[in-house]
Amino acid sequence: MANISNCPASIIKDAALALKQGHLVAFPTETVYGLGADATNEKAVARIYEVKGRPTDHPLIVHISSINNLDKWAKDMPEYAIKLARAFWPGPMTLILPRTDLAKNFITGDQNNVGIRVPSHTVALALIKEFEAQGGMGVAAPSANRFGKVSPTCADDVKAELFNYLKSNDKILDGGSSLVGVESTIINCLNATPFILRPGAITAVMISNLLGIKIEVVTKNHNDPIKSSGLLESHYSPIARVYLSGTPEPGDGFIALRKFLTPMGVTRLASPTNNEEYAKTLYQSLRLADFKKINKVFVIAPDGDDIAVAICDRLKKASIKSE
Ligand code: TXA
Ligand code: MG
Repeated sequence: MANISNCPASIIKDAALALKQGHLVAFPTETVYGLGADATNEKAVARIYEVKGRPTDHPLIVHISSINNLDKWAKDMPEYAIKLARAFWPGPMTLILPRTDLAKNFITGDQNNVGIRVPSHTVALALIKEFEAQGGMGVAAPSANRFGKVSPTCADDVKAELFNYLKSNDKILDGGSSLVGVESTIINCLNATPFILRPGAITAVMISNLLGIKIEVVTKNHNDPIKSSGLLESHYSPIARVYLSGTPEPGDGFIALRKFLTPMGVTRLASPTNNEEYAKTLYQSLRLADFKKINKVFVIAPDGDDIAVAICDRLKKASIKSE
């Protein structure tokens, strides 16, 4: 399998062609790495599910290069959704919108809506643009990890997750470490007012400020809990057990802001200086725990109404099996 460093135009062109031919291309985004396929090719999309080991009725996010292509995939959009798209795309935000006929059931998990995102990572944008130039409509891409596991934030982590499942014509593009480090904010835009399904770097405060209304975070999908894997109670899990309270003992792992001292004999897995750095390093530090064969990781979750909300959401899900 090809693992490509840097991404000159010729590499991007080949990767876009691979997508057009029905192969899979893992690529960097500013949030986490995605496992991409042509969103109109049922067979290619089926391979995403196979490679991830993910239930086939879970919907996928379609990635497009610009707001100008939005009406290919979505229709009857509320005005606030257009405002959100104009303000925060390209960027770490996914909008759930009523679908057009282009968004087939194999993308939407049989739902009448579709998740759309315009990522800001230059490699992601270049790939999607080239794919569109070759006649493509959009790239379906979940995070490039096995189902229920920690999302990869660099090409090596994609390789570690999926090497055994990818084929010789599939590709992994290397675009360095993802800057944000946690997945996009998902906003449900199907009702008179929007609400957040999955918190991320575009926060409730930012959305409220833009739209002038209060925004709720409803991370539990009461109507249909199974169809949104990232919304399942347990997800984003390393092999190690994650504890959000309690005191670590010698041999355990520890993740906290730098201001917290490492208890004696405990392995410090991350000591970020602020919440942004916390998000950027979170998944890598959980992977490090597994690499070091640490069984228990104690975490002091960050405070705040910024990206801390997303970090706490993921930590809670990562910790569920230990409660
Ligand atoms: O940052 C991200 O969003 C990354 C990068 C690669 O773009 N992608 C990502 O995809 O996190 P995924 O599939 O790992 O997580 C997307 C979540 C899943 O829980 C999926 O079920 C949910 O979004 N989702 C996608 N389309 C949906 C829809 N139409 N309705 C409800 N939930 C949806
Ligand atoms: Mg995921």
